[in-house]
Amino acid sequence: TRAQQEVTVHADAGKHTISKHIYGHFAEHLGRCIYDGFYIGENNKVIPNTNGVRNDIVEALKELKIPNLRWPGGCFADTYHWKDGIGPKEDRPTIVNQWWGGVTEDNSFGTHDFLNMCELLETEPYLSGNVGSGTVQELIDWVQYTNHDGKSPMADLRKENGREEPWNVKYWGIGNEAWGCGGNMTPEYYSDVYRKYSTFLSGWSNENGIFRIASGASGSDYNWTEVLMKNIKHNLIEGMALHHYSVIEWNNKGPAATFSEEQYFQTMQSALEMEELVTKHGAIMDKYDPENKIALIVDEWGGWYDVEPGTNPGFLYQQNTMRDAMIAGATLNIFNNHARRVKMANLAQAVNVLQAVILTDEEKMILTPTYHILKMYSVHQDATLLPVEFENVNYTYNGKSLPALSVSASKDKNGLIHVSLVNIDASKKHKVSLNIEGAEVKNTTGTILTSDKLQDHNTFKDPEKVTSKEFKDFSGKKGQLEVELPPFSVVVLEWK
Ligand code: AHR
Repeated sequence: TRAQQEVTVHADAGKHTISKHIYGHFAEHLGRCIYDGFYIGENNKVIPNTNGVRNDIVEALKELKIPNLRWPGGCFADTYHWKDGIGPKEDRPTIVNQWWGGVTEDNSFGTHDFLNMCELLETEPYLSGNVGSGTVQELIDWVQYTNHDGKSPMADLRKENGREEPWNVKYWGIGNEAWGCGGNMTPEYYSDVYRKYSTFLSGWSNENGIFRIASGASGSDYNWTEVLMKNIKHNLIEGMALHHYSVIEWNNKGPAATFSEEQYFQTMQSALEMEELVTKHGAIMDKYDPENKIALIVDEWGGWYDVEPGTNPGFLYQQNTMRDAMIAGATLNIFNNHARRVKMANLAQAVNVLQAVILTDEEKMILTPTYHILKMYSVHQDATLLPVEFENVNYTYNGKSLPALSVSASKDKNGLIHVSLVNIDASKKHKVSLNIEGAEVKNTTGTILTSDKLQDHNTFKDPEKVTSKEFKDFSGKKGQLEVELPPFSVVVLEWK
């Protein structure tokens, strides 16, 4: 059986821009994300690198046009003292990574290393400040160090350490998960702490001004958002964060690659909750900020499973399958469709941790199914969101159901229209009747990501098992197409 769904895209009714920053990434000092991931050290003669950062990773991420990269945490951020990561590497003190495996790090990857890497990646840095175990002085010194263009103690220190020009970092997080690893604070208490930090982050001139992001709610903790929106003066905040992971149960997450359909269904149920979360947190923000000045920033999202057998449980290394591609396709459609309020998001995490786009093993590197989705969807960056009307059909498993399809559409600066369609149904294909209204369109082309099995993934032995391919399963003409979406597939169509 298969259904026929009508999907109508209103190509002349776009109002909001899909911020490219929705396509952001996250790199924490966690497991093999930074050390033995992005960064292999300046002395590595085997793997081609620039100042110790792998060239292959830089090239792959540039292909995705990654708009921003959040660092150094996560939970690690509230333990991190940035001054320990500057100056001659041999003189730097060590730090024990208390949240992630208790490993001792040598601080060889610090502020210069990260900000210079962002320049290589042509991406904007997003620094997470230490509120939990740091001080206001420490954070404003960091701002002065990275952003001050004149003479000042911190700017002079930066120059002594080899960097003349400031980096002009715009995005600053004021703590991370303040309700948990960031200090176990109540929203009332954190609001006051936030106000204090944020006050001293004002007044640093830089080209675009500083964008301050409050540590946001975990999932459906709507009270957190409510209290912060009520208690924080709106001239002190530019962004409100939100974290949500697609997880089955925190105590029983299940394997990353050898999962059952039941587990797939549960993961997708959790992933699709994002729709309700951004809607409801957005509604609270609308109540206090009807002019939509404060951005909702989902600075951690993605699938979270048990670690790969035999790997350090504190390193969160997991495989990445077609299931992850479905999470990515559906979640990014949700963010696109909420572009009015959601202005930034960060997939957790870029390399070797959680829902990674890149996995490495010594000199080898693979691109995951999630990587391919991010690449296909990069066409939506900074494009105008187009309204879409459609009636969904259910994906039913064991008497429970979820909406099978998700869609988002945009028109870019060159007038190209893109529609991304996701069918999460594990066994049924769905036929869609797609109408583009309000524009003269011709020359449809398409790209698809799918595979034989939901559990399919790329390995170091078989790195191209899951890759995107040209999609041709559509018929009709111009703005009226019949499209056939295979089970668990993501398709992006383009009209000239
Ligand atoms: O991304 C892994 C961890 O998840 C982050 O450190 C923390 O912020 C969240 O709980």
